Amino acid sequence: MSSMPRASAFASPPDRQDRIRNKQISAPILDTLDTACREAFSALGFPADFGSVFESDRPDLAPFQCNGAMPAAGFLKKKGEKVNPREIAEKVIDYLKNIPAFGRLEVAGPGFINIVPACALISERANGLSNDARTGAGKVKSKTIIIDYGGANVAKPMHVGHLRSAVIGESLKRLLRFRGHTVIGDVHLGDWGLQMGHLITELEDEQPDLPYFDPGKMDDFPKESPVTMDDLTRLYPAASNKAKSDANRMERSRKATAELQAGHPGYRALLDHFIGVSVESLKKGYGALGVAFDLWKGEAAVDPLIPDMIREFRSKGIAIKDDGALIIRVNDENEKKEVPPVMLVASSGAVLYHATDLATLLDRKNGINPDIVLYVVDQRQALHFEQVFRAAVKAGWYEMGQMIHLGFGTMNGKDGKPFKTREGGVLHLEDLIAMMLGAAEMRLEESGIGLGFDDRARADIAGKVGLAALKFADLQNQRTTNYVFDLERFTAFDGKTGPYLLYAAVRIKSLLRRAGAEGVKPGQIMILDKAEQQLVFTLDSFDRALEATESKYAPHILCDHVYRLAQSFSRFYTECPILAENTPLDIRQSRLALAQTTLRQLTLGLDIIGIEAPEQM
Ligand code: ARG
Repeated sequence: MSSMPRASAFASPPDRQDRIRNKQISAPILDTLDTACREAFSALGFPADFGSVFESDRPDLAPFQCNGAMPAAGFLKKKGEKVNPREIAEKVIDYLKNIPAFGRLEVAGPGFINIVPACALISERANGLSNDARTGAGKVKSKTIIIDYGGANVAKPMHVGHLRSAVIGESLKRLLRFRGHTVIGDVHLGDWGLQMGHLITELEDEQPDLPYFDPGKMDDFPKESPVTMDDLTRLYPAASNKAKSDANRMERSRKATAELQAGHPGYRALLDHFIGVSVESLKKGYGALGVAFDLWKGEAAVDPLIPDMIREFRSKGIAIKDDGALIIRVNDENEKKEVPPVMLVASSGAVLYHATDLATLLDRKNGINPDIVLYVVDQRQALHFEQVFRAAVKAGWYEMGQMIHLGFGTMNGKDGKPFKTREGGVLHLEDLIAMMLGAAEMRLEESGIGLGFDDRARADIAGKVGLAALKFADLQNQRTTNYVFDLERFTAFDGKTGPYLLYAAVRIKSLLRRAGAEGVKPGQIMILDKAEQQLVFTLDSFDRALEATESKYAPHILCDHVYRLAQSFSRFYTECPILAENTPLDIRQSRLALAQTTLRQLTLGLDIIGIEAPEQM
């Protein structure tokens, strides 16, 4: 090891220790250890990166580890020196052992360095987290981000894809906002397709005398909608079923759609009513799910931009006529993958889904000029978005990477097919929510939870448990995988479920109430016990979990964290008596502060997932 520089940094330990000590107050424990370890490796003549510290995969041995000694041995080998990694690990430990941040350091196996931080460091960090309203969650530099999610269609009932989009999109919106970004959620209603022609013609068959069908009438249509939401949900399937077997009926719907798109005044007025009635009902449905959009725009809203957009495409030579249709070629000759052209306008003259999405991108650029546009839409639309994004890049509006499709798998029934109601129909949001509520009520009953409350309070608890069950069951999966709808499992109070997390939160709330009644206040935290340490380490990893959730747009990472937090707390709660009479007062106060900090972080995390815990249950 002769070429390893004799650590000159040892010459000025007080200075180095000072720097680290000053950091202890604000920095996560992992960062403090990491900084020192990197310094050690570079002082020994290695790339600093070898010193990076991780949460250990054997927390029973030590909470943190550094694996840099192995690559360091490889590094020396390249220079012709053969050194055992364990020997290097010992050198690193020699360097670190006088730094107060480190408690115990040891070499394990081929040269892993196991790290236990000093109790003083853990306590200081715990107090830092406890004094922070965000329990250690940082804020990043703010981007402007649009999230396109929900995507329900006017008059057509929602399917589970819309539900997943709403749940995932809402959680990402909350996460990105919490991280400091400016986020705008847009429901992007499907209100411009053939379903409009179906509705118009079916309504005409039912009520031909309505003024909207009077060919001479140009304006002054009634302010009151001629249809209710119930009418719409009846008219649409009626028309769509007839059209399936009757080509003439289909032709009438097509023609009405084209006339609407060409500006037929009566049909436009009807469209406004259809949208108005649907939006009102959707606001209720999404509202019941705890999902709120900033923009209630839809495809129809950007229709006025389409003629100019097409002119722009044509003048830039991007859009071309092909077999009567207007298309944009987006495949790249050099790539194997065959990406079919974007279809702007069909040969029938109908404006297509690609066109409304492109016009929406243009509208967003002009109005908001976002840094990023996220699309939380069923994985099955991946090709659609690939085409749209390529066209938007070709047009010079956006750069690749600014528009991101966040696809997701389906929620399946036990038969492995996309979930349907027992009657085999598509899912209505209200029915799903009612189902979750019913299951939650049964669960509460059988577990004896929530029984002491009056009907209203119990309904409130059941509502929260039901939503927590549904959302957590959805979000804890990797976004792109399919999962099976299983009411039993989702609503269980044990295991990795929403209700388990609510229970954990409620337990801390009642503990805090009891402490209040006994006059015990949260105080200075002193970490003594292993279960306390573990809880602090978990609390301290919140920011990393949030960062990873953002970088992968993967809510399941946050779900894992929140679950781990509830488990760490549960262990702490079992092993460390908090309010017990024989617990000294300063320890009671310390543990209470830990419990309070846990509740704060749990509440923040659950809120991002879209879950609200009741006060009691
Ligand atoms: N309405 C569409 C559907 O039901 C989903 C819309 C997704 N968003 C978008 N910008 N295309 O399939």
